[in-house]
Amino acid sequence: MSSKAVILVGGGTRGTRFRPLSLDMPKVLFPVAGRPILSHALTALAAVPSVKEVLLIGFYDDSVFSDFLAEASREFPQFSIKYLREYRALGTAGGLYHFRDAILKGNPYRLFVIHADVCCSFPLNEMLQMFDDKEAKAIILGTHVEADAARNFGCIVTDDKKRVIHYVEKPETHISNLINGGVYLFDRSIFDVIGAARVAKIEDSVAAQFDDEDESREVLRLEQDILVRLAQTEGFYVYETRGFWRQIKTAGSAVPANSLYLQKLFQHDIDAPGLAKASAFIIPPVYIDPTASVDPTAKLGPNVSIGPRARVGPGVRIKEAILLADTEVKHDANVRYSILARGAKVGAWARVEGSPITLDEHQTVMVKNGARVQNICILARDVYVADEVRIQNCVVLPHKDIRTDVVNEIIM
Ligand code: GTP
Repeated sequence: MSSKAVILVGGGTRGTRFRPLSLDMPKVLFPVAGRPILSHALTALAAVPSVKEVLLIGFYDDSVFSDFLAEASREFPQFSIKYLREYRALGTAGGLYHFRDAILKGNPYRLFVIHADVCCSFPLNEMLQMFDDKEAKAIILGTHVEADAARNFGCIVTDDKKRVIHYVEKPETHISNLINGGVYLFDRSIFDVIGAARVAKIEDSVAAQFDDEDESREVLRLEQDILVRLAQTEGFYVYETRGFWRQIKTAGSAVPANSLYLQKLFQHDIDAPGLAKASAFIIPPVYIDPTASVDPTAKLGPNVSIGPRARVGPGVRIKEAILLADTEVKHDANVRYSILARGAKVGAWARVEGSPITLDEHQTVMVKNGARVQNICILARDVYVADEVRIQNCVVLPHKDIRTDVVNEIIM
Protein backbone atom coordinates (compact mmCIF):
# COMPACT_ATOMS: atom_id res chain seq x y z
CA MET A 1 0.00 0.00 0.00
CA SER A 2 1.45 3.34 -1.03
CA SER A 3 1.49 6.62 0.88
CA LYS A 4 1.94 10.19 -0.28
CA ALA A 5 3.37 13.34 1.21
CA VAL A 6 2.48 16.98 0.77
CA ILE A 7 5.05 19.62 1.71
CA LEU A 8 3.59 23.10 2.18
CA VAL A 9 6.15 25.48 0.74
CA GLY A 10 4.28 28.82 0.94
CA GLY A 11 4.95 31.63 -1.51
CA GLY A 12 6.59 34.96 -2.14
CA THR A 13 4.25 36.95 0.09
CA ARG A 14 4.95 34.65 3.06
CA GLY A 15 8.23 34.05 4.83
CA THR A 16 8.86 37.80 5.11
CA ARG A 17 10.64 37.30 8.40
CA PHE A 18 13.32 35.45 6.42
CA ARG A 19 14.29 38.65 4.63
CA PRO A 20 16.81 39.73 3.48
CA LEU A 21 17.85 36.15 2.69
CA SER A 22 14.54 35.38 0.93
CA LEU A 23 15.06 38.32 -1.46
CA ASP A 24 17.24 36.05 -3.62
CA MET A 25 15.59 32.68 -3.21
CA PRO A 26 12.52 31.14 -1.54
CA LYS A 27 13.18 30.34 2.09
CA VAL A 28 12.68 26.62 1.51
CA LEU A 29 15.57 26.53 -0.99
CA PHE A 30 18.00 28.27 1.38
CA PRO A 31 20.88 25.86 2.12
CA VAL A 32 21.46 24.65 5.65
CA ALA A 33 24.10 21.98 6.29
CA GLY A 34 24.95 22.18 2.59
CA ARG A 35 21.46 21.39 1.26
CA PRO A 36 18.22 23.28 0.65
CA ILE A 37 15.89 23.25 3.66
CA LEU A 38 13.38 21.25 1.57
CA SER A 39 15.91 18.47 0.88
CA HIS A 40 16.08 17.59 4.57
CA ALA A 41 12.36 16.74 4.56
CA LEU A 42 12.77 14.77 1.32
CA THR A 43 15.63 12.77 2.85
CA ALA A 44 13.37 11.88 5.76
CA LEU A 45 10.55 10.85 3.39
CA ALA A 46 13.00 8.69 1.43
CA ALA A 47 13.40 6.59 4.57
CA VAL A 48 9.68 5.69 4.51
CA PRO A 49 9.38 2.84 1.98
CA SER A 50 5.64 3.31 1.34
CA VAL A 51 5.96 6.93 0.12
CA LYS A 52 5.66 6.88 -3.68
CA GLU A 53 4.79 10.50 -4.43
CA VAL A 54 5.68 13.87 -2.90
CA LEU A 55 3.67 16.97 -3.83
CA LEU A 56 5.03 20.42 -3.05
CA ILE A 57 2.13 22.84 -2.72
CA GLY A 58 2.73 26.57 -2.79
CA PHE A 59 2.06 29.80 -4.62
CA TYR A 60 5.47 30.58 -6.10
CA ASP A 61 5.87 30.66 -9.89
CA ASP A 62 6.38 27.19 -11.35
CA SER A 63 9.83 28.22 -12.60
CA VAL A 64 11.09 28.74 -9.02
CA PHE A 65 11.25 25.01 -8.37
CA SER A 66 12.14 23.62 -11.81
CA ASP A 67 15.91 23.18 -11.18
CA PHE A 68 15.30 21.91 -7.67
CA LEU A 69 12.74 19.35 -8.91
CA ALA A 70 15.06 18.08 -11.64
CA GLU A 71 17.85 17.56 -9.14
CA ALA A 72 15.60 16.08 -6.43
CA SER A 73 14.09 13.61 -8.92
CA ARG A 74 17.59 12.29 -9.63
CA GLU A 75 18.50 12.16 -5.94
CA PHE A 76 15.25 10.50 -4.83
CA PRO A 77 14.28 8.00 -7.54
CA GLN A 78 12.12 6.11 -4.99
CA PHE A 79 9.27 8.64 -5.37
CA SER A 80 7.99 11.11 -7.90
CA ILE A 81 8.07 14.81 -6.95
CA LYS A 82 5.75 17.45 -8.39
CA TYR A 83 5.01 21.08 -7.68
CA LEU A 84 1.34 22.13 -7.55
CA ARG A 85 0.73 25.86 -7.66
CA GLU A 86 -2.14 27.54 -5.83
CA TYR A 87 -3.58 30.44 -7.84
CA ARG A 88 -3.29 32.48 -4.64
CA ALA A 89 -2.44 31.79 -1.00
CA LEU A 90 -5.16 29.37 0.07
CA GLY A 91 -3.89 28.75 3.60
CA THR A 92 -2.30 25.63 5.01
CA ALA A 93 -5.47 23.54 4.44
CA GLY A 94 -6.98 25.42 1.46
CA GLY A 95 -4.30 24.12 -0.92
CA LEU A 96 -4.79 20.57 0.30
CA TYR A 97 -8.50 20.82 -0.41
CA HIS A 98 -8.03 22.51 -3.78
CA PHE A 99 -5.70 19.73 -4.95
CA ARG A 100 -7.59 16.88 -3.27
CA ASP A 101 -8.15 14.96 -6.53
CA ALA A 102 -4.43 14.99 -7.36
CA ILE A 103 -3.59 14.01 -3.77
CA LEU A 104 -6.11 11.15 -3.65
CA LYS A 105 -5.20 9.84 -7.12
CA GLY A 106 -4.00 6.24 -6.82
CA ASN A 107 -5.87 5.88 -3.53
CA PRO A 108 -2.94 6.44 -1.12
CA TYR A 109 -3.21 4.66 2.16
CA ARG A 110 -1.70 7.46 4.29
CA LEU A 111 -0.90 11.14 3.72
CA PHE A 112 1.97 13.00 5.38
CA VAL A 113 1.59 16.78 5.47
CA ILE A 114 4.76 18.67 6.34
CA HIS A 115 5.38 22.38 6.92
CA ALA A 116 8.48 23.08 4.86
CA ASP A 117 9.87 25.44 7.47
CA VAL A 118 10.35 22.99 10.31
CA CYS A 119 13.76 21.62 11.11
CA CYS A 120 13.52 18.36 13.02
CA SER A 121 14.48 14.71 13.21
CA PHE A 122 11.28 13.79 11.25
CA PRO A 123 10.25 10.59 13.09
CA LEU A 124 7.96 9.61 10.18
CA ASN A 125 8.19 5.83 10.52
CA GLU A 126 7.40 6.14 14.22
CA MET A 127 4.32 8.21 13.36
CA LEU A 128 3.20 5.53 10.89
CA GLN A 129 3.67 2.86 13.54
CA MET A 130 1.57 4.85 16.02
CA PHE A 131 -1.10 5.36 13.37
CA ASP A 132 -1.49 1.58 13.01
CA ASP A 133 -1.17 0.81 16.72
CA LYS A 134 -3.86 3.33 17.67
CA GLU A 135 -6.01 2.71 14.59
CA ALA A 136 -5.87 6.47 14.29
CA LYS A 137 -7.34 8.86 11.74
CA ALA A 138 -4.79 11.59 12.31
CA ILE A 139 -1.44 11.98 14.07
CA ILE A 140 0.27 15.26 14.81
CA LEU A 141 3.94 15.59 15.70
CA GLY A 142 4.23 17.28 19.09
CA THR A 143 7.27 18.69 20.82
CA HIS A 144 7.79 20.18 24.28
CA VAL A 145 8.97 23.77 24.70
CA GLU A 146 9.41 26.09 27.68
CA ALA A 147 6.16 27.53 29.06
CA ASP A 148 6.97 31.11 28.00
CA ALA A 149 7.65 30.02 24.38
CA ALA A 150 4.54 27.80 24.09
CA ARG A 151 2.11 30.66 23.53
CA ASN A 152 3.77 31.45 20.19
CA PHE A 153 2.74 28.07 18.81
CA GLY A 154 -0.28 25.81 18.44
CA CYS A 155 -0.78 24.17 21.85
CA ILE A 156 -1.99 20.60 22.33
CA VAL A 157 -3.80 19.07 25.30
CA THR A 158 -4.00 15.27 25.44
CA ASP A 159 -5.52 12.56 27.59
CA ASP A 160 -3.38 9.80 29.10
CA LYS A 161 -3.64 7.73 25.88
CA LYS A 162 -2.06 10.57 23.82
CA ARG A 163 -5.39 11.41 22.26
CA VAL A 164 -5.65 15.10 21.35
CA ILE A 165 -8.64 16.51 23.22
CA HIS A 166 -7.98 20.21 22.80
CA TYR A 167 -6.01 22.35 20.34
CA VAL A 168 -5.52 26.13 20.48
CA GLU A 169 -3.37 28.11 18.05
CA LYS A 170 -1.24 30.74 19.83
CA PRO A 171 -3.39 30.85 23.01
CA GLU A 172 -3.54 33.99 25.09
CA THR A 173 -2.90 32.11 28.31
CA HIS A 174 -0.77 29.07 28.95
CA ILE A 175 -2.55 25.79 28.28
CA SER A 176 0.23 23.34 27.50
CA ASN A 177 3.97 23.02 26.83
CA LEU A 178 3.25 20.47 24.11
CA ILE A 179 3.14 22.25 20.76
CA ASN A 180 2.35 21.56 17.13
CA GLY A 181 5.53 20.38 15.37
CA GLY A 182 4.19 21.05 11.84
CA VAL A 183 4.21 17.39 10.67
CA TYR A 184 0.97 15.42 10.32
CA LEU A 185 -0.17 12.00 9.18
CA PHE A 186 -3.74 11.61 7.95
CA ASP A 187 -5.96 9.08 6.27
CA ARG A 188 -8.35 10.18 3.51
CA SER A 189 -11.06 11.15 5.99
CA ILE A 190 -9.14 14.43 6.53
CA PHE A 191 -10.79 15.69 3.35
CA ASP A 192 -14.23 15.20 4.90
CA VAL A 193 -13.13 17.31 7.88
CA ILE A 194 -11.70 20.04 5.62
CA GLY A 195 -14.85 19.91 3.47
CA ALA A 196 -17.07 20.34 6.54
CA ALA A 197 -14.90 23.23 7.79
CA ARG A 198 -15.19 24.86 4.36
CA VAL A 199 -18.99 24.60 4.34
CA ALA A 200 -19.13 26.03 7.88
CA LYS A 201 -16.92 28.92 6.84
CA ILE A 202 -19.07 29.69 3.80
CA GLU A 203 -22.23 29.55 5.93
CA ASP A 204 -20.64 31.90 8.48
CA SER A 205 -19.66 34.37 5.80
CA VAL A 206 -23.17 34.26 4.29
CA ALA A 207 -24.68 34.84 7.75
CA ALA A 208 -22.29 37.75 8.24
CA GLN A 209 -23.36 39.04 4.80
CA PHE A 210 -19.89 39.00 3.31
CA ASP A 211 -19.59 39.56 -0.39
CA ASP A 212 -20.20 36.38 -2.44
CA GLU A 213 -16.99 37.06 -4.27
CA ASP A 214 -15.01 37.39 -1.05
CA GLU A 215 -11.93 35.32 -1.80
CA SER A 216 -10.96 34.86 1.83
CA ARG A 217 -13.74 32.24 2.04
CA GLU A 218 -11.43 29.95 0.08
CA VAL A 219 -8.70 30.30 2.67
CA LEU A 220 -8.57 27.47 5.18
CA ARG A 221 -5.98 27.14 7.89
CA LEU A 222 -5.03 23.69 9.05
CA GLU A 223 -4.29 24.97 12.53
CA GLN A 224 -7.28 27.18 13.36
CA ASP A 225 -9.95 25.71 11.05
CA ILE A 226 -9.12 22.00 11.00
CA LEU A 227 -7.15 20.86 14.04
CA VAL A 228 -9.57 22.51 16.44
CA ARG A 229 -12.36 20.43 14.82
CA LEU A 230 -10.28 17.25 14.73
CA ALA A 231 -9.68 17.55 18.46
CA GLN A 232 -13.45 17.13 18.92
CA THR A 233 -13.45 13.79 17.09
CA GLU A 234 -12.15 10.32 17.88
CA GLY A 235 -8.88 9.06 16.46
CA PHE A 236 -6.64 12.16 16.67
CA TYR A 237 -3.36 11.42 18.48
CA VAL A 238 -0.06 13.14 19.14
CA TYR A 239 3.35 11.58 18.57
CA GLU A 240 5.64 13.34 21.05
CA THR A 241 9.17 13.65 19.76
CA ARG A 242 12.17 13.88 22.05
CA GLY A 243 14.38 14.57 19.02
CA PHE A 244 15.46 18.06 17.99
CA TRP A 245 12.86 20.48 16.65
CA ARG A 246 12.79 24.12 15.65
CA GLN A 247 11.07 26.36 13.16
CA ILE A 248 12.90 28.31 10.49
CA LYS A 249 11.07 31.64 10.50
CA THR A 250 13.54 34.50 10.89
CA ALA A 251 16.67 34.67 8.74
CA GLY A 252 18.75 34.15 11.87
CA SER A 253 17.00 30.86 12.65
CA ALA A 254 18.87 29.29 9.72
CA VAL A 255 21.99 29.25 11.94
CA PRO A 256 20.59 26.93 14.67
CA ALA A 257 18.93 24.83 11.93
CA ASN A 258 22.31 24.52 10.23
CA SER A 259 23.86 23.39 13.53
CA LEU A 260 21.15 20.82 14.23
CA TYR A 261 21.26 19.24 10.76
CA LEU A 262 25.09 19.22 10.74
CA GLN A 263 25.13 17.51 14.12
CA LYS A 264 22.61 14.94 12.93
CA LEU A 265 24.68 14.22 9.81
CA PHE A 266 27.87 13.99 11.85
CA GLN A 267 26.31 11.54 14.31
CA HIS A 268 24.78 9.32 11.63
CA ASP A 269 27.42 9.38 8.89
CA ILE A 270 30.78 10.80 9.89
CA ASP A 271 32.07 10.07 6.35
CA ALA A 272 29.21 11.88 4.58
CA PRO A 273 30.35 13.79 1.47
CA GLY A 274 31.44 17.33 2.34
CA LEU A 275 31.91 16.75 6.08
CA ALA A 276 35.44 17.88 6.96
CA LYS A 277 37.60 15.59 9.08
CA ALA A 278 38.47 16.74 12.61
CA SER A 279 41.95 18.28 12.95
CA ALA A 280 43.75 21.08 14.77
CA PHE A 281 41.94 23.47 12.40
CA ILE A 282 38.56 21.75 12.06
CA ILE A 283 36.18 21.42 15.02
CA PRO A 284 33.34 19.20 13.72
CA PRO A 285 30.77 19.34 12.39
CA VAL A 286 31.89 21.41 9.41
CA TYR A 287 30.54 21.08 5.88
CA ILE A 288 32.72 22.34 3.00
CA ASP A 289 31.43 22.27 -0.57
CA PRO A 290 33.98 20.50 -2.83
CA THR A 291 34.33 23.62 -5.01
CA ALA A 292 35.15 25.92 -2.06
CA SER A 293 38.75 26.80 -1.24
CA VAL A 294 39.68 26.97 2.42
CA ASP A 295 43.22 27.81 3.50
CA PRO A 296 44.62 25.03 5.72
CA THR A 297 45.45 27.59 8.44
CA ALA A 298 41.82 28.79 8.71
CA LYS A 299 40.14 27.45 11.86
CA LEU A 300 36.55 26.34 11.24
CA GLY A 301 33.81 25.01 13.49
CA PRO A 302 31.81 23.87 15.15
CA ASN A 303 28.62 24.14 13.07
CA VAL A 304 29.89 25.79 9.92
CA SER A 305 28.72 25.33 6.30
CA ILE A 306 30.83 26.66 3.45
CA GLY A 307 29.07 26.93 0.08
CA PRO A 308 30.18 26.47 -3.53
CA ARG A 309 33.21 28.50 -4.74
CA ALA A 310 33.54 30.27 -1.37
CA ARG A 311 37.08 31.40 -0.49
CA VAL A 312 38.42 31.43 3.04
CA GLY A 313 41.89 32.92 3.59
CA PRO A 314 44.75 32.10 5.98
CA GLY A 315 44.32 32.69 9.70
CA VAL A 316 40.54 33.12 9.43
CA ARG A 317 38.31 31.98 12.32
CA ILE A 318 34.71 30.89 11.55
CA LYS A 319 32.23 29.28 13.94
CA GLU A 320 28.42 28.82 14.00
CA ALA A 321 28.00 30.31 10.54
CA ILE A 322 26.75 29.77 6.99
CA LEU A 323 28.71 31.05 4.02
CA LEU A 324 26.78 30.78 0.75
CA ALA A 325 28.15 30.49 -2.77
CA ASP A 326 30.86 32.88 -4.01
CA THR A 327 31.49 34.45 -0.59
CA GLU A 328 34.98 35.46 0.48
CA VAL A 329 36.56 35.89 3.90
CA LYS A 330 40.05 37.43 3.70
CA HIS A 331 42.99 36.56 5.91
CA ASP A 332 42.73 36.83 9.70
CA ALA A 333 39.04 37.84 9.66
CA ASN A 334 36.62 36.47 12.25
CA VAL A 335 33.05 35.32 11.46
CA ARG A 336 30.77 34.00 14.24
CA TYR A 337 27.03 33.43 14.61
CA SER A 338 26.58 34.92 11.16
CA ILE A 339 25.27 34.29 7.65
CA LEU A 340 27.02 35.54 4.52
CA ALA A 341 24.66 35.45 1.54
CA ARG A 342 25.84 34.87 -2.01
CA GLY A 343 28.79 37.03 -3.04
CA ALA A 344 29.27 38.72 0.37
CA LYS A 345 32.89 39.65 1.13
CA VAL A 346 34.66 40.23 4.44
CA GLY A 347 37.99 42.06 4.47
CA ALA A 348 41.22 41.15 6.24
CA TRP A 349 41.19 41.38 10.06
CA ALA A 350 37.47 42.31 9.96
CA ARG A 351 35.02 40.89 12.54
CA VAL A 352 31.46 39.86 11.68
CA GLU A 353 29.76 38.68 14.85
CA GLY A 354 26.39 37.72 16.21
CA SER A 355 25.75 36.64 19.79
CA PRO A 356 25.82 33.07 21.07
CA ILE A 357 22.47 31.29 21.00
CA THR A 358 21.37 28.00 22.48
CA LEU A 359 19.86 25.43 20.16
CA ASP A 360 16.68 24.95 22.17
CA GLU A 361 15.87 28.66 22.28
CA HIS A 362 13.03 29.55 19.93
CA GLN A 363 14.07 33.17 19.42
CA THR A 364 16.69 34.77 17.20
CA VAL A 365 16.04 38.33 18.27
CA MET A 366 17.04 39.93 21.54
CA VAL A 367 16.46 43.28 23.22
CA LYS A 368 19.49 45.55 23.65
CA ASN A 369 19.17 49.08 25.04
CA GLY A 370 15.40 48.82 24.54
CA ALA A 371 15.65 47.90 20.82
CA ARG A 372 14.99 44.49 19.26
CA VAL A 373 18.08 43.33 17.40
CA GLN A 374 19.01 40.11 15.64
CA ASN A 375 21.41 37.95 17.58
CA ILE A 376 22.65 36.53 14.28
CA CYS A 377 24.62 38.90 12.05
CA ILE A 378 23.40 38.74 8.45
CA LEU A 379 25.19 40.06 5.40
CA ALA A 380 22.82 39.93 2.41
CA ARG A 381 23.87 39.41 -1.17
CA ASP A 382 27.09 41.14 -2.34
CA VAL A 383 27.64 43.06 0.90
CA TYR A 384 31.25 44.17 1.37
CA VAL A 385 32.82 44.63 4.81
CA ALA A 386 36.12 46.51 4.55
CA ASP A 387 39.42 45.44 6.17
CA GLU A 388 39.55 45.74 9.97
CA VAL A 389 35.90 46.80 10.31
CA ARG A 390 33.82 45.29 13.14
CA ILE A 391 30.16 44.60 12.56
CA GLN A 392 28.10 43.09 15.34
CA ASN A 393 24.43 41.97 15.59
CA CYS A 394 23.52 43.71 12.35
CA VAL A 395 21.37 42.89 9.35
CA VAL A 396 22.91 44.41 6.23
CA LEU A 397 20.75 44.66 3.11
CA PRO A 398 22.12 43.70 -0.33
CA HIS A 399 24.99 45.48 -2.10
CA LYS A 400 26.06 47.68 0.85
CA ASP A 401 29.70 48.61 1.51
CA ILE A 402 30.45 48.78 5.22
CA ARG A 403 33.56 50.84 5.95
CA THR A 404 33.07 51.78 9.63
CA ASP A 405 32.26 49.75 12.73
CA VAL A 406 28.52 49.13 13.30
CA VAL A 407 26.68 47.51 16.22
CA ASN A 408 22.98 46.52 16.63
CA GLU A 409 21.66 48.07 13.42
CA ILE A 410 19.69 47.23 10.31
CA ILE A 411 21.68 48.78 7.49
CA MET A 412 19.49 49.62 4.49
P1 GTP B 1 3.20 32.36 11.00
O1 GTP B 1 4.06 31.30 11.56
O2 GTP B 1 1.89 32.43 11.66
O3 GTP B 1 3.90 33.67 10.91
O4 GTP B 1 2.86 32.05 9.48
P2 GTP B 1 3.70 31.45 8.29
O5 GTP B 1 2.97 31.67 7.01
O6 GTP B 1 5.14 31.89 8.32
O7 GTP B 1 3.78 29.97 8.63
P3 GTP B 1 2.65 28.90 8.95
O8 GTP B 1 3.10 28.26 10.21
O9 GTP B 1 1.29 29.43 8.83
O10 GTP B 1 2.90 27.97 7.73
C1 GTP B 1 3.48 26.70 7.85
C2 GTP B 1 4.03 26.28 6.50
O11 GTP B 1 2.99 26.36 5.52
C3 GTP B 1 5.16 27.15 6.00
O12 GTP B 1 6.10 26.30 5.38
C4 GTP B 1 4.50 28.07 5.02
O13 GTP B 1 5.37 28.43 3.98
C5 GTP B 1 3.36 27.22 4.47
N1 GTP B 1 2.19 28.01 4.11
C6 GTP B 1 1.63 29.02 4.84
N2 GTP B 1 0.55 29.50 4.20
C7 GTP B 1 0.42 28.79 3.05
C8 GTP B 1 -0.53 28.83 1.95
O14 GTP B 1 -1.41 29.65 1.87
N3 GTP B 1 -0.33 27.90 0.98
C9 GTP B 1 0.69 26.99 1.00
N4 GTP B 1 0.78 26.12 0.02
N5 GTP B 1 1.59 26.95 2.00
C10 GTP B 1 1.46 27.83 3.02
